[in-house]
Amino acid sequence: MSSFRRLLGFTMLLSWVVTTLGFVGVAQQVVAQTSSVDAYIATESPAAKAGVLANIGPSGAKCQGAKAGVVIASPSNTNPDYVFTWTRDSSLVFKMLIDQYTLAIDSSASLRTLIDQFVAAEASLQQTSNPSGLISTGGLGEPKFNIDGSAFTGPWGRPQRDGPALRATALITYANWLIKNSNTTFAESTLWPIIKLDLDYVAINWNLTTFDLWEEIDSSSFFTTAVQHRALREGITLANTLGVSSSVTAYPTQADNILCFLQSFWHPSGSMPFMTANTGGGRSGIDANTVLASIHTFDPQAGCDSTTFQPCSDHALANLLAYTQAFRSVYSINANLASTAALATGRYPEDVYMGGNPWYLATFAVAEQLYDALEVWNSQGSLQVTSLSQPFFALFDSSIAPGTFASSTSTFTTLTTAIKAYADSYIALAAKFTPSNGGLAEQYSRDDGSPLSAVDLTWSYASALTVFEARSGTKFASWGAKGLTVSSQCATNAGGNGETIPVTFNVDATTVLGENIYIAGSVNALQDWDADNALLLSSANYPIWSITVNLPANTIVQYKYIRKDGGSVTWESDPNNQFTTNGSGAQTLNDSWR
Ligand code: NOJ
Ligand code: NOJ
Repeated sequence: MSSFRRLLGFTMLLSWVVTTLGFVGVAQQVVAQTSSVDAYIATESPAAKAGVLANIGPSGAKCQGAKAGVVIASPSNTNPDYVFTWTRDSSLVFKMLIDQYTLAIDSSASLRTLIDQFVAAEASLQQTSNPSGLISTGGLGEPKFNIDGSAFTGPWGRPQRDGPALRATALITYANWLIKNSNTTFAESTLWPIIKLDLDYVAINWNLTTFDLWEEIDSSSFFTTAVQHRALREGITLANTLGVSSSVTAYPTQADNILCFLQSFWHPSGSMPFMTANTGGGRSGIDANTVLASIHTFDPQAGCDSTTFQPCSDHALANLLAYTQAFRSVYSINANLASTAALATGRYPEDVYMGGNPWYLATFAVAEQLYDALEVWNSQGSLQVTSLSQPFFALFDSSIAPGTFASSTSTFTTLTTAIKAYADSYIALAAKFTPSNGGLAEQYSRDDGSPLSAVDLTWSYASALTVFEARSGTKFASWGAKGLTVSSQCATNAGGNGETIPVTFNVDATTVLGENIYIAGSVNALQDWDADNALLLSSANYPIWSITVNLPANTIVQYKYIRKDGGSVTWESDPNNQFTTNGSGAQTLNDSWR
């Protein structure tokens, strides 16, 4: 709050100085924008909160039939039909509500009741067997359920492995507050068992392929990996507090492995380096996935650390530049905008889903990353420009050179003032395309900004509330990102978890002339299930087909053999083959085509 007031005070002073000197323009625009953004937030904040509450059962006004504590994604029941409960959406929404409760933004008894109903609803969804499996066989990766709590059995992009991590993070936030407020019993006996199921799932399955948060690409995904890392770290701390660390001894090693793997998504080449969203999928890789990862793993105590992709880190700022600019030529509403004007942004530039328009939650995420960054720069009293982040800072000062600028310098003031105005311009853009009733749909038109796709998207409302909170300087809790490092082996071997071992795959397969046998599987070295790029086996010892591949050590790997004949591609029948690689040495698998 105080940093915001300081900035506002400064902006008014600047306005006076500049006006007096005769340069009206910019500073006055900043002041005008600040007050119009303030005005928008004053009305949109209660509208967004009401929008969230209307979509939560049992008594939300727009979700008839939803069980107590169940969040519907949107009341839209056709084109798209979103009257389901997604673990991701629900967990992000309740993380916001639990933050509001535990930070005393909303201490109402009715909110507490809702949180407890959410806990009960999720505990029961965890136990609901579904097409991803039973609770012990992968069922926690199921992305969505019917709103009465029963399994959704239609075809879907499953599993999605971010859900358990996001749910654990929401519940850990609640547990930490309960412990501080003398209710350790509830945290220990009710919350911990639910949290532990989710974290065990993360610790065991994080290295397996997953559908990304947009439910489209089956590979490894930055957002998923980043939120899994966070959840495990804060889970370890909670286990220590509760005195149950002996039950989670696998977590620290896996958290280190995940953090190592996270580094491999960095895409340093080209004039605008960025964080690649997915290991598969054949797109540019530029994606709101990464901006959402940064804001949802923000740790105000971690400084501008790049290893955990903190909002003010040079990697995350370089990425934000690449992400925002990617939409400049894609949406016609972005045509002819100045370099420091907000751009409408969506999930990723190649998106075609429901018209492939900008998304409110993606546009708000840009502003949120910047407010988070400002919060850290102001509290640490300095800001660093590196060669990596220089192009981002150059948006605001074309002559800026790498260096560290203390808050007493005019460079610090100029940059933070301009970045605050830039962040505000993203809110102003969303404000311009918010209808007068405050409703936030999923998307807004790439041509004229009118709302499109699912109406009253619960996640859109939650994203508005979290960006408003970030702007007002809300102090969020740390999750332990400070000072984390990756092993030197990891740093020099980006893309793996260090050690690899040679694994020989032999498969007995009778083929006809023209047919060949290939392999694809769940890790990078097995092409992340990409059949087009599957690896060809040798038939030198026909009918045994063979290949030796270097795979990460101590890793659960899934794979299948594929039969290809010209254009026709036949996968082995289900289920996937699975094994765990050894810690060292070589390994041989002898299979028969299934
Ligand atoms: C589609 C989005 O891509 C996904 O992230 C979300 O979970 C669902 N819609 C429901 O809102
Ligand atoms: C794609 C393949 O079609 C399928 O057979 C395989 O099981 C999945 N990827 C990975 O789970």
